[in-house]
Amino acid sequence: MDAEHIDGELSRVLVTEAEIQDRLAALAKEIAADYLGRDLLLVGVLRGAVMVMADLARELDRHVEMDWMAISSYGSGTTSSGVVRILKDLDTDITGRHVLVVEDIIDTGLTLTWLVSNLTTRGPASVEVCTLLRKPDAQQMSVAVKYVGFDIPAEFVVGYGLDYAERYRNLRCVGTLAPQVYT
Ligand code: PRP
Repeated sequence: MDAEHIDGELSRVLVTEAEIQDRLAALAKEIAADYLGRDLLLVGVLRGAVMVMADLARELDRHVEMDWMAISSYGSGTTSSGVVRILKDLDTDITGRHVLVVEDIIDTGLTLTWLVSNLTTRGPASVEVCTLLRKPDAQQMSVAVKYVGFDIPAEFVVGYGLDYAERYRNLRCVGTLAPQVYT
Protein backbone atom coordinates (compact mmCIF):
# COMPACT_ATOMS: atom_id res chain seq x y z
CA MET A 1 0.00 0.00 0.00
CA ASP A 2 1.20 3.49 -0.87
CA ALA A 3 0.90 6.47 1.48
CA GLU A 4 -1.66 8.24 -0.72
CA HIS A 5 -4.21 5.47 -0.04
CA ILE A 6 -4.31 6.52 3.61
CA ASP A 7 -4.31 10.20 2.86
CA GLY A 8 -4.14 12.25 6.05
CA GLU A 9 -3.31 9.34 8.36
CA LEU A 10 0.44 9.95 8.19
CA SER A 11 1.83 13.23 9.44
CA ARG A 12 5.21 12.64 7.83
CA VAL A 13 7.01 10.10 5.67
CA LEU A 14 10.33 9.37 7.39
CA VAL A 15 11.77 6.85 4.95
CA THR A 16 10.45 6.40 1.43
CA GLU A 17 10.01 3.11 -0.39
CA ALA A 18 12.95 3.96 -2.69
CA GLU A 19 15.19 4.83 0.26
CA ILE A 20 14.33 1.54 1.97
CA GLN A 21 15.03 -0.52 -1.14
CA ASP A 22 18.32 1.29 -1.90
CA ARG A 23 19.55 0.86 1.65
CA LEU A 24 18.60 -2.83 1.77
CA ALA A 25 20.46 -3.41 -1.50
CA ALA A 26 23.58 -1.76 -0.03
CA LEU A 27 23.30 -3.76 3.20
CA ALA A 28 22.87 -6.97 1.19
CA LYS A 29 26.14 -6.25 -0.65
CA GLU A 30 27.94 -5.75 2.68
CA ILE A 31 26.42 -8.92 4.12
CA ALA A 32 27.29 -10.96 1.03
CA ALA A 33 30.91 -9.79 1.25
CA ASP A 34 31.16 -10.40 5.01
CA TYR A 35 29.77 -13.94 4.78
CA LEU A 36 31.62 -14.96 1.65
CA GLY A 37 32.36 -18.69 1.75
CA ARG A 38 30.26 -19.20 4.89
CA ASP A 39 26.71 -20.48 5.15
CA LEU A 40 24.15 -18.02 6.45
CA LEU A 41 20.92 -18.42 8.37
CA LEU A 42 18.65 -15.39 8.52
CA VAL A 43 16.44 -15.34 11.62
CA GLY A 44 13.44 -13.05 11.34
CA VAL A 45 11.56 -11.81 14.38
CA LEU A 46 7.82 -11.98 13.79
CA ARG A 47 5.82 -10.13 12.90
CA GLY A 48 7.42 -6.81 12.09
CA ALA A 49 10.47 -8.21 10.30
CA VAL A 50 8.50 -9.93 7.52
CA MET A 51 8.94 -7.11 4.99
CA VAL A 52 12.64 -6.52 5.74
CA MET A 53 13.34 -10.24 5.56
CA ALA A 54 11.53 -10.63 2.22
CA ASP A 55 13.30 -7.72 0.56
CA LEU A 56 16.74 -8.18 2.13
CA ALA A 57 16.81 -11.91 1.32
CA ARG A 58 15.93 -11.22 -2.32
CA GLU A 59 18.74 -8.67 -2.58
CA LEU A 60 21.26 -11.32 -1.49
CA ASP A 61 22.77 -12.96 -4.58
CA ARG A 62 23.73 -16.12 -2.72
CA HIS A 63 22.12 -19.05 -0.92
CA VAL A 64 20.59 -18.28 2.47
CA GLU A 65 18.28 -20.14 4.81
CA MET A 66 15.47 -18.38 6.63
CA ASP A 67 13.84 -19.22 9.93
CA TRP A 68 11.54 -17.31 12.27
CA MET A 69 10.97 -16.66 15.93
CA ALA A 70 7.93 -15.13 17.54
CA ILE A 71 8.52 -13.58 20.92
CA SER A 72 6.39 -11.56 23.23
CA SER A 73 7.61 -8.98 25.66
CA TYR A 74 5.83 -8.61 28.97
CA GLY A 75 5.36 -4.88 29.05
CA SER A 76 2.77 -2.18 29.41
CA GLY A 77 1.72 -2.63 25.79
CA THR A 78 3.78 0.08 24.17
CA THR A 79 7.08 -0.31 26.01
CA SER A 80 9.35 -3.34 26.31
CA SER A 81 10.15 -4.75 29.72
CA GLY A 82 13.04 -6.95 28.62
CA VAL A 83 11.22 -10.00 29.99
CA VAL A 84 10.53 -12.09 26.96
CA ARG A 85 8.52 -15.23 26.26
CA ILE A 86 9.07 -17.43 23.19
CA LEU A 87 5.80 -17.92 21.29
CA LYS A 88 7.41 -19.74 18.37
CA ASP A 89 10.95 -21.03 18.51
CA LEU A 90 13.31 -21.72 15.61
CA ASP A 91 12.82 -24.96 13.69
CA THR A 92 16.56 -24.93 12.96
CA ASP A 93 19.37 -26.21 15.18
CA ILE A 94 21.79 -23.27 15.08
CA THR A 95 24.77 -25.09 16.62
CA GLY A 96 27.82 -24.10 14.57
CA ARG A 97 25.75 -21.90 12.27
CA HIS A 98 26.32 -18.28 11.25
CA VAL A 99 23.14 -16.51 12.36
CA LEU A 100 21.99 -13.07 11.26
CA VAL A 101 19.00 -11.75 13.20
CA VAL A 102 16.76 -9.60 11.00
CA GLU A 103 14.67 -6.93 12.72
CA ASP A 104 12.44 -4.11 11.56
CA ILE A 105 13.21 -1.80 14.48
CA ILE A 106 15.28 -1.60 17.62
CA ASP A 107 13.63 0.75 20.07
CA THR A 108 14.84 0.23 23.66
CA GLY A 109 17.02 -2.69 22.56
CA LEU A 110 15.64 -4.92 25.32
CA THR A 111 14.10 -7.47 22.96
CA LEU A 112 17.31 -7.81 21.01
CA THR A 113 19.54 -8.02 24.08
CA TRP A 114 17.44 -10.93 25.31
CA LEU A 115 17.31 -12.58 21.88
CA VAL A 116 21.03 -12.40 21.17
CA SER A 117 21.83 -13.79 24.61
CA ASN A 118 19.29 -16.60 24.13
CA LEU A 119 20.66 -17.53 20.69
CA THR A 120 24.25 -17.39 21.94
CA THR A 121 23.54 -20.13 24.50
CA ARG A 122 22.72 -22.49 21.61
CA GLY A 123 26.32 -22.62 20.39
CA PRO A 124 26.17 -20.83 17.02
CA ALA A 125 29.37 -20.03 15.10
CA SER A 126 28.34 -16.35 15.17
CA VAL A 127 25.33 -14.12 15.87
CA GLU A 128 25.01 -10.71 14.26
CA VAL A 129 22.11 -8.32 13.88
CA CYS A 130 20.60 -6.42 10.96
CA THR A 131 17.85 -3.88 11.56
CA LEU A 132 16.14 -1.54 9.17
CA LEU A 133 15.47 1.12 11.81
CA ARG A 134 17.15 2.07 15.06
CA LYS A 135 15.99 4.60 17.63
CA PRO A 136 18.40 6.65 19.78
CA ASP A 137 17.93 4.64 23.03
CA ALA A 138 19.19 1.50 21.28
CA GLN A 139 22.57 3.07 20.61
CA GLN A 140 23.33 2.84 24.33
CA MET A 141 22.78 -0.89 24.55
CA SER A 142 25.59 -3.39 24.96
CA VAL A 143 24.67 -5.66 22.03
CA ALA A 144 26.45 -4.59 18.86
CA VAL A 145 24.24 -4.11 15.82
CA LYS A 146 26.36 -4.74 12.76
CA TYR A 147 23.96 -3.66 10.02
CA VAL A 148 21.68 -0.62 10.48
CA GLY A 149 19.45 0.75 7.76
CA PHE A 150 18.48 4.09 9.25
CA ASP A 151 18.90 5.83 12.58
CA ILE A 152 15.61 7.58 13.23
CA PRO A 153 14.32 9.98 15.91
CA ALA A 154 12.48 8.72 19.01
CA GLU A 155 9.05 8.95 17.41
CA PHE A 156 6.34 6.31 17.03
CA VAL A 157 6.58 5.04 13.46
CA VAL A 158 4.46 2.73 11.32
CA GLY A 159 4.75 1.04 7.95
CA TYR A 160 6.93 -1.57 6.28
CA GLY A 161 6.12 -4.18 8.93
CA LEU A 162 5.51 -1.78 11.81
CA ASP A 163 1.97 -1.48 13.09
CA TYR A 164 -0.38 0.64 15.10
CA ALA A 165 -3.20 -1.60 16.37
CA GLU A 166 -2.17 -4.13 13.68
CA ARG A 167 -2.68 -1.63 10.85
CA TYR A 168 -0.12 -0.04 8.51
CA ARG A 169 2.20 -3.06 8.32
CA ASN A 170 1.58 -3.25 4.55
CA LEU A 171 2.57 0.36 3.92
CA ARG A 172 5.58 0.59 1.58
CA CYS A 173 7.19 3.52 3.42
CA VAL A 174 7.86 4.32 7.08
CA GLY A 175 6.15 7.33 8.61
CA THR A 176 4.72 8.94 11.70
CA LEU A 177 1.00 8.84 12.36
CA ALA A 178 -1.12 11.95 12.40
CA PRO A 179 -2.45 12.77 15.90
CA GLN A 180 -6.11 12.25 14.95
CA VAL A 181 -5.43 8.55 14.28
CA TYR A 182 -4.79 7.98 17.97
CA THR A 183 -8.01 9.62 19.09
C1 PRP B 1 8.92 -4.65 17.82
C2 PRP B 1 10.12 -4.93 16.93
C3 PRP B 1 11.11 -5.50 17.88
C4 PRP B 1 10.77 -4.85 19.19
C5 PRP B 1 11.76 -3.76 19.47
O1 PRP B 1 8.15 -5.79 17.92
O2 PRP B 1 9.82 -5.80 15.88
O3 PRP B 1 11.03 -6.91 17.97
O4 PRP B 1 9.47 -4.28 19.08
O5 PRP B 1 11.49 -3.12 20.69
P1 PRP B 1 12.60 -2.94 21.82
O6 PRP B 1 13.89 -2.60 21.15
O7 PRP B 1 12.06 -1.79 22.64
O8 PRP B 1 12.67 -4.20 22.62
P2 PRP B 1 6.68 -5.82 18.57
O9 PRP B 1 6.80 -6.27 20.00
O10 PRP B 1 6.01 -4.51 18.32
O11 PRP B 1 5.95 -7.00 17.80
P3 PRP B 1 5.56 -7.12 16.23
O12 PRP B 1 6.86 -7.18 15.46
O13 PRP B 1 4.79 -8.39 16.14
O14 PRP B 1 4.75 -5.91 15.84
